[in-house]
Amino acid sequence: MIKVLFVCLGNICRSPMAEFIFKDMVNKKGISERFYIDSAATSNYNELEKAGMYGDAKDMLRKMNVPFTEHMSRQIRKEDYDKFDYILGMEEKNVNNILKIIGDDKDNKVFRLLDFTETARDISDPWYSGDFYSAYYDILYGCENFLKYIENKNIKKL
Ligand code: 4NP
Repeated sequence: MIKVLFVCLGNICRSPMAEFIFKDMVNKKGISERFYIDSAATSNYNELEKAGMYGDAKDMLRKMNVPFTEHMSRQIRKEDYDKFDYILGMEEKNVNNILKIIGDDKDNKVFRLLDFTETARDISDPWYSGDFYSAYYDILYGCENFLKYIENKNIKKL
């Protein structure tokens, strides 16, 4: 089983969108049982407030027919490093904060989602920009390319 943790600052916009977009993608390919997929925050802001996914993020997923379930923000924990195979931040800041929590990335598990594309870059935060369209398409692009990478790497296992 391939275990993937998507991470952003608040775990109420980008990383839960990525979690549900990637779940939908592997589900449609009939390979969902090969994956364990979750998301988390680098901050504890929304965990403390027991926040669910942000309304505009949910609306964007509904618009794109991506199913989602109840979500509650949680902060990434040190133990997540052993639990997951891939820890995918949305931007460089996330990666730096992930490393502060988990310590050394000794097994090379931590990346930005768009590092798997031809245009490695950050996915900007729609919480601040209000641009959920760009966030959705960046995440979709990242997830498609990440899945291609996984399929090539695990060709016999998938
Ligand atoms: P996200 O966006 O990292 O994509 O979930 C944010 C959501 C909430 C906050 C910051 C970023 N916040 O400060 O509460």
